[in-house]
Amino acid sequence: MATLGIDIGGSGIKGAPVDLAAGELAEDRYRLETPQRATVQGIVETVGKVAHRFAPADSVGITFPGVVVDGIIRTAANVDKAWIDAPAAELFTEAVGRPVTVINDADAAGIAEMTFGAGRGQHGTTIMLTFGTGIGSALFVDGRLVPNTELGHLELDGEDAEVRASDRARDVEDLSWHEWAHRVQRYLRHVEGLFQPDLIIIGGGVSKKSEKFLPLIEVRTPVVPAALQNNAGIIGAALAASGRP
Ligand code: BGC
Repeated sequence: MATLGIDIGGSGIKGAPVDLAAGELAEDRYRLETPQRATVQGIVETVGKVAHRFAPADSVGITFPGVVVDGIIRTAANVDKAWIDAPAAELFTEAVGRPVTVINDADAAGIAEMTFGAGRGQHGTTIMLTFGTGIGSALFVDGRLVPNTELGHLELDGEDAEVRASDRARDVEDLSWHEWAHRVQRYLRHVEGLFQPDLIIIGGGVSKKSEKFLPLIEVRTPVVPAALQNNAGIIGAALAASGRP
């Protein structure tokens, strides 16, 4: 039996069985819209529907866009606040019909990149940052994850960094690539000043358009786009469920 990965994002909930040896989706992914307001019941039901689209899996990994400690959600910046303290692993296990592993979305994407993508074989300190509805982060020391780092909520120019520099901020404020790149540069300089990373990996949907903004950003640390892009969350969730990272 396969391992199923499910990625809960701001606009869609996507899942697919994952080929863990190849680091690829084993079947086409299935996507449903994330329910409006991202309520607990709405998301749990949608995750159940995505899981039931596929044959039963050995193990199931699910990403969540907030802090996840021992299967319990601790923060909910971009989903309904009722998620705070929700027993996500229990709720998803019931909806999916088998035990699940729940992991922060950026941590999952980071695990996938470190195993199969831009961070493969990387030693020292690596930071993956995902730019989407919010800013997610995954910190690795010699390939080992330090979970739930939440660097998207560092303060930048008096505000939450993700309010200034997420891809949503680019969209909502209608920023040019130059204007947005300037904000991302300020943010990356702040992050590198705090952690002195050896490598920064940029993920999230916008990493597909990295040629539009990465050349505009000057920082000391090497910065590379994610290699797995859209599927990093699904693959990372499956890796986490398989206990491989
Ligand atoms: C959340 C993180 C999440 C990131 C990306 C942030 O607002 O606090 O947990 O990884 O958004 O979804």
